[in-house]
Amino acid sequence: MDIWEQLAAYRAAHEGRKIADLCTEAGRFSGFSATSDGLVLDYAKTNLCAEGRALLLDLAAHTGVAARRDAMFAGEKINQTEGRAVLHTALRAPKSARVMVDGQDVMPEIHATLGRMAAFAEALESGAITASDGAPFSDVVNIGIGGSDLGPAMATRALSPYAGRLRVHFVSNVDGADIADVLAGLDPARTLLIVASKTFTTIETMTNAATAKAWLGGRKGHLAAVSTARDKTSAFGIPPDRVFGFEDWVGGRYSLWGPIGLPIMLAIGPQNFADFLAGGHAMDQHFRTAAPADNLPLLLGLVGIWHSNICGYATRAVLPYDQRLCRLPAYLQQLDMESNGKGVTMEGRAVARASGPVVWGEPGTNGQHAFYQLIHQGTAVVPCEFLIAGEGHEPDLSHQHDLLIANCLAQSRALMLGRDMDAARALMAAKGLSGAELERQAAHRIFPGNRPSVTLAYPKLTPFVLGQIIALYEHRVFVEAAIWGINAFDQWGVELGKELAVALLPHVAGEAAGGLDDSTAGLLGVLK
Ligand code: F6P
Repeated sequence: MDIWEQLAAYRAAHEGRKIADLCTEAGRFSGFSATSDGLVLDYAKTNLCAEGRALLLDLAAHTGVAARRDAMFAGEKINQTEGRAVLHTALRAPKSARVMVDGQDVMPEIHATLGRMAAFAEALESGAITASDGAPFSDVVNIGIGGSDLGPAMATRALSPYAGRLRVHFVSNVDGADIADVLAGLDPARTLLIVASKTFTTIETMTNAATAKAWLGGRKGHLAAVSTARDKTSAFGIPPDRVFGFEDWVGGRYSLWGPIGLPIMLAIGPQNFADFLAGGHAMDQHFRTAAPADNLPLLLGLVGIWHSNICGYATRAVLPYDQRLCRLPAYLQQLDMESNGKGVTMEGRAVARASGPVVWGEPGTNGQHAFYQLIHQGTAVVPCEFLIAGEGHEPDLSHQHDLLIANCLAQSRALMLGRDMDAARALMAAKGLSGAELERQAAHRIFPGNRPSVTLAYPKLTPFVLGQIIALYEHRVFVEAAIWGINAFDQWGVELGKELAVALLPHVAGEAAGGLDDSTAGLLGVLK
């Protein structure tokens, strides 16, 4: 039997086992949780036992996860379809590190750029850099999409307790409603625009940038850019000293650690941004050096493989009990689904098993009053990933944080424990029902239970902790991709739609006709 068959056999042999029974065993939590710098991953509420975990660790060993990890950190060109190294980890490495790409150490340039970003951030915050009328800027608008928006927007929101004077806003959608609504509340005289685009060709970003530039009314010094395409930024009229560059070995969805993170730094200041990088780097060190059985990214990846490939669960829910992580699910959708939503291996063959699961979610407790019904009683099993801090940033509201913790822990317990027919009957009997009506009503109160979840627990949502969490998820995606044998660092699947949109625009504008399928032509007729 190969390792996949062994895992399937193990699953078949233990399918009836109850997570609740596993969790009554002494030492279950300590045996099925792992820690890195205060961040705890609890996977005790899954139906894995030591034997299953050992098989999964064997799977990681057989599929060469560690070798691929080392190749990534060493700057090898593991993004094979684009012939690029994958070195977002270098963006969060300390100055003393040496990271070689094509025989050159990239660390001096990374830290020089970080230094320029910090100087810019400090000068904007203090008012040493002013708007064209000589008064300080009050607002910053980041214009970008995908990786040039989701990470910065998510992290800026997550770290709002660390915010300084500058208000930072985000525009991403080509829908004019987005930019119209953001600019409506702002004064062009007080606003700095950052055009953030790795390629500086993305049509949504360039269209919004042109709209925003016109809104500035020719004010000088109100534009900055973040891009790998320095030639294109100057053609757009942004002076070189306002351009923060990076290299093509940073993927868009992995780019918030460097210049794409400029809006985060403008919001929280260079020192907090440095702490954020330190958190990411600490997770890198952990991923590289922790023993497999204690390695958070490896374990989280293997739990993901267990649930999607062995148990056959097609989606996973990310449920932060942390309102400031409200954009985390959207951010992880890009990170995970743009990385691993692929059907072809690095060798160009069909992937042998289901790859990237659908990732979705919303903060708790809000989700409890919306879609948790399906998670508890629906026919599909959805493995849940809870996130919760030991304390909030609002000491005066600690009683509310207690309620938050109680709700978070109650949900994972309810998923695990469920409620059987006897308990449901007792409940109905206590309400005075009997006979056929008791049976009918009781059936609706059954919870299947035995539904798996993992929980990430951390002391408080600080910049360091956010860095740990994001790097953990990045490496989890990496582990899963390595096991499936796919390249997590390209995204060819987004190209076709872009091409067809460009081809359709003349039809929408009434400058071309014919050649469309009947459905599309019919819809065009309705819309125009
Ligand atoms: O279309 C997908 C994508 O290429 C993402 O991978 C990327 O994060 C986003 O578009 C934005 O790209 P850019 O930063 O080049 O504007």
